[in-house]
Amino acid sequence: MAHKVTLIPGDGIGSEITGAVVRVIEAAGVEIEWESFIAGAEALSRFGDPLPEPVLESIKRNKVALKGPLTTPVGTGFASVNVRLRKTLDLYANLRPVRNIPGLVTPFGALDLVVVRENTEDLYSGLEHVVVPGVVESLKIITEKASTRIARFAFDYARREGRKKVTAIHKANIMKLSDGLFLDCFRKIAAEYPDIEADDKIVDNACMQLVMKPQQFDVLLLENLYGDIISDLAAGLVGGLGVVPGANIGELGAVFEAVHGSAPDIAGRNLANPTALLQTAIMMLRYLGERNAADLIERALFQTLSDGHIRTRDLGGAASTTEYTEAIVAKMRELS
Ligand code: NAI
Repeated sequence: MAHKVTLIPGDGIGSEITGAVVRVIEAAGVEIEWESFIAGAEALSRFGDPLPEPVLESIKRNKVALKGPLTTPVGTGFASVNVRLRKTLDLYANLRPVRNIPGLVTPFGALDLVVVRENTEDLYSGLEHVVVPGVVESLKIITEKASTRIARFAFDYARREGRKKVTAIHKANIMKLSDGLFLDCFRKIAAEYPDIEADDKIVDNACMQLVMKPQQFDVLLLENLYGDIISDLAAGLVGGLGVVPGANIGELGAVFEAVHGSAPDIAGRNLANPTALLQTAIMMLRYLGERNAADLIERALFQTLSDGHIRTRDLGGAASTTEYTEAIVAKMRELS
């Protein structure tokens, strides 16, 4: 039976990379009935809302969505659709596996770590106001409920995936109450998982350690803002935003999306690298129980990159998005 999945192609390079991913999934023989929607600036001008209700209803119904990047206006304009989507659907866990891709030479050697980021609160609560002209207050919200829930998610994930250690990253030496609460919740939950090692690091030190000795990390657990920053830093350790996957997971469903943005500088030119969204789709297929297809796509992707002949421009090659996609499809045929 076909899976029903909500598809938000997104802005900029979104339609090019989602097109590539839909093509590869079809070629892998997985039947997916895509319910496709626009969101963001185009939805705002056509329907008066950058995240129209039917999009949310579709995700609630299907419980799984694949999403391309959406442009967020800077400083003014509508609030981030990405943040609203995560908050409305209570997609509280942001999961970003960071692994080397065979054939991509990076300065840090073999890495395999996972960033787990709390997705619903912290400074991303959007609670900002002008106290008096020239003074703005931005509220950082940390709750016991959300901190406990994300800590449990991280330990459950670690146990399920055979991982050894969860490291909480914080600034509880300065933000004694907020980050202190996050850390307390982490420690309480850690005590329930004696089989998984638990430790913690202050965020500035963690940044340095990540670029000096990244192999020491396994699962990293962070509040929303630190998680946002460190997940990009970690992506940079294995080849950048063009190659790492991501997922936002909650009790009601999951939205799978690549880490990178809409890349307006290369949009519409058939230059975008679909690898990150393909890796994201591989995660999604595993979530849907389509393990064989996920493994086949992964092997074809890794072999294509290892061969090194056909790569997109951001990885030093000259291939277009479509040439690269067709090379992966051809490799899948060879392997199956
Ligand atoms: P960006 O990730 O779009 O681009 C940064 C650089 O990386 C650019 O040079 C771009 O060409 C390159 N790049 C990114 N993805 C690539 C890919 N798949 N293939 C080849 N090159 C790629 O980040 P930027 O410029 O900061 O943001 C642009 C817009 O995207 C903003 O409006 C931002 O708010 C939005 N954004 C959306 C996200 C989402 O929907 N989840 C995440 C991050 C940013």
